Amino acid sequence: MTTPLEDLRSGWERQQSVHEPDRELRFRLMLDYIEHLTDPPRRVLDLACGPGSITRRVLDRFPSAEVAALDIDPLLLELARDAFAGNERIRVVARQLAEAGWWEDLGRFDAVLTATAMHWLPPSALSGVYAGVARLLRPGGIFANADHMPLADPVLRDAADGMHAEYLREIFASGVESCDEWYRRAYADPRYEGWWAERERVFAHWTGELLESEEWHLGLLRRSGFERAGVVWRRGNDALVIAVRGQAHPAPGSSVDRAPGRAHGLEDRGYRRMSERGGIVTDHPDEHPSATEPDELLVDDLIDETRLPEEGPPEVRETADGVSPSSPEPPA
Ligand SMILES: C[S@@+](CC[C@H](N)C(=O)[O-])C[C@H]1O[C@@H](n2cnc3c(N)ncnc32)[C@H](O)[C@@H]1O
Repeated sequence: MTTPLEDLRSGWERQQSVHEPDRELRFRLMLDYIEHLTDPPRRVLDLACGPGSITRRVLDRFPSAEVAALDIDPLLLELARDAFAGNERIRVVARQLAEAGWWEDLGRFDAVLTATAMHWLPPSALSGVYAGVARLLRPGGIFANADHMPLADPVLRDAADGMHAEYLREIFASGVESCDEWYRRAYADPRYEGWWAERERVFAHWTGELLESEEWHLGLLRRSGFERAGVVWRRGNDALVIAVRGQAHPAPGSSVDRAPGRAHGLEDRGYRRMSERGGIVTDHPDEHPSATEPDELLVDDLIDETRLPEEGPPEVRETADGVSPSSPEPPA
């Protein structure tokens, strides 16, 4: 007999796997690359974790790893807390990635992994996220990002997008629950009354799914302190990027810290975005140079790792209450 929260978690897995047919392969590849590039990780960050999808797979693959699972959606955080309650190896952290300094107090990690999430952030916020990831990783640490990353060629991109839209149309016509329907069902539960309003508050910056090309992501990663970055897998407009953190480290007071505003990037509107069922809508890409030109970033701000002050033992802050509640028209 499953609990209502277990039922929501398995529903989440189901609908995400429908939207991303290669979801499991992408997860496996992330972990394979870690295994081949570095020692078994002791500390992993599941960035924008949802109910802890990557966390669970990391625990299965690396039995001695500890994981910090970070998100901002109140109900998904609740599902993650419930899933890992009593597990000393897991810390669930409520954190808004669109805010400057989101990485503070998280400690140091061997790997930071994320899936189907970075496209929720506007490009200028994403520069703060990548810079924060570079700060959190030890030198040689691995960043893996599986996400929508459109092909640069517009004809190929539209063809891939059209095929995916057709696939989704067919599968949803058969009555399978979509991501949006899952959110509606989950937040409609009377136990979470009022939580949707809170969700709307924490996602107030959200302007639609924002899609940048792999070249854009790779350029931004290199500027953020990664010495290697490449696409290791792609199917249509979906890709997996692996990046290796270099030896230098962004200096305190670097342009990451100087990012404008607490919730930077929120002024970005009108980039290529994905319609609910997969079609890319191009609004005004030419009017938004930052969509193709990553923010001037960290190269000048990198300093040698050895000049950094010694850090204490890694520590993850748990914000139990951060969860505030709310619900959808969210993206998949
Ligand atoms: C499609 S889900 C993917 C979750 C998980 N990685 C998976 O594959 O099941 C995207 C996640 O990104 C989170 N997210 C989006 N924007 C965020 C932000 N600004 N700060 C923190 N989390 C965010 C959402 O709450 C959601 O859990």
